[in-house]
Amino acid sequence: MSRASCLSSLLDHAPVILPSLLLCDFGNLEREVGRLKEAGARALHLDVMDGNFVPNLTYGLPIVSALRQLTEMPLDTHLMIRQPEKYVQAFFDAGADVITIHAEATTDPAGVLRDIRRTGAAAGIAFNPGTPLSTLELCGGLCDLVLIMSVEAGFGGQQFDPVAPSRLRQARSIVGDTAVFEVDGGINENTIDACASAGAQLFVAGSAVFGQSDYCGALDRLARVAMQS
Ligand code: DX5
Ligand code: ZN
Repeated sequence: MSRASCLSSLLDHAPVILPSLLLCDFGNLEREVGRLKEAGARALHLDVMDGNFVPNLTYGLPIVSALRQLTEMPLDTHLMIRQPEKYVQAFFDAGADVITIHAEATTDPAGVLRDIRRTGAAAGIAFNPGTPLSTLELCGGLCDLVLIMSVEAGFGGQQFDPVAPSRLRQARSIVGDTAVFEVDGGINENTIDACASAGAQLFVAGSAVFGQSDYCGALDRLARVAMQS
């Protein structure tokens, strides 16, 4: 199976909740991955931040490689880094299945999306809440995933921005159903339904999962609310 096809396999199970490892216990990464797998997680969301495009600094290639050794779950890699074009191949080589860049982080999003597809990974493009979605008019056909941020990229634990559902609708009206739609930031049992109704299929959740001792219960509750909408 090609790495890019992991998205269509995930869609068979939509709505899918992707735990964001930003808030996991990095001292026990193997145990955390095992617990998430056992809890029914189908893919992992990895937040790579460079301390430049966003003020926060997290982790990069070595952690992606380490996770690749620990699991066969798809790795959904959210690059919050400037000039992502420099690192596309390296993240693919480290084991990323989906590589998502920020529209604001490069002067040539179309070129970077093409580069990502050329590696064999699925190509994603992310938009912060205030960024016009007009880039999608040019890039819509080049991306496999559109990530609508429901917080300003940079930190876990922020409050959901209610502008996200209308932006999901707008993105879908531009791109159609050729891409998968994902939402990220402040997703919890109170905010997920509006995003599901607006057409999101993949939902990233950090605090709503890692703030609970029972990961399985947390993932199930989120999926159930999303399914009902
Ligand atoms: C924010 C990250 C998110 C974040 C999600 O920049 O992209 O993935 O970790 O965490 P919560 O669910 O706590 O907002
Ligand atoms: Zn993210």
